[in-house]
Amino acid sequence: MPSSSNHSSTTAPVITIDGPSGSGKGTISQYLAGELGWHHLDSGALYRLLAYAALQQALPLDDAAALVQLAARLSDSYQLPTPDNPAIMLDGVDVGQALRTEKCAEAASKTAALPAVRKALLAWQRHYRQPPGLIADGRDMGTVVFPDAALKLFLTARPEVRAMRRYNQLKNKGILVDLKELVREVEARDQRDASRKASPLMPAGDAMIVDNSDQDEARTLQQVLQAVHDVL
Ligand code: C5P
Repeated sequence: MPSSSNHSSTTAPVITIDGPSGSGKGTISQYLAGELGWHHLDSGALYRLLAYAALQQALPLDDAAALVQLAARLSDSYQLPTPDNPAIMLDGVDVGQALRTEKCAEAASKTAALPAVRKALLAWQRHYRQPPGLIADGRDMGTVVFPDAALKLFLTARPEVRAMRRYNQLKNKGILVDLKELVREVEARDQRDASRKASPLMPAGDAMIVDNSDQDEARTLQQVLQAVHDVL
């Protein structure tokens, strides 16, 4: 976590970037955080980490009380990776690769549907709001976690485009998967994320929606940077 400072953390500006899997929010968020010199919260990584640790301990993925306890332990010991320190360490082991698998994403999506789990992760996520500012990426950053964000973006793209991007991302990380199977998994996860009662995946009422199905990353970045410069 970013170390606390004398500034009030609640007044640090936040830009939220929400969207489904494969919408490009991770890349855009990282770039923006680097450009502005702000902190970056990859909230999906926290959900994935919790699910991964639960799988490791063979905890049932619907045992809310046990998951809440586990989240409390993780929030005390876990550090989000930074550009200087990119490894994702859990109890001394680099779990970066394991967290990126669809198996872990699916488990994350199941545990993320539990209201008690979402509540347990709120303070942990909000702690990352530190000066000079925070880029927060996830599913409910603009709707629930940082409703007062200075700018809310919702990135999206057609499902087949997003599945292909996920496929290439995984391939670049050395994780080989069956494309058809991945399309099914991504659709099932989107469906679960968008239909759950607690903080479903959806744009905030005041979010700017960027559908980047038919444009490259450079164009999306240009659009996003323009929106950022308009508010900062
Ligand atoms: O963004 P990422 O694919 O890493 O997220 C993994 C899963 O974690 C999502 O499918 C979603 O179920 C959950 N998640 C969430 N709320 C967030 C971030 C992630 O429910 N803010």
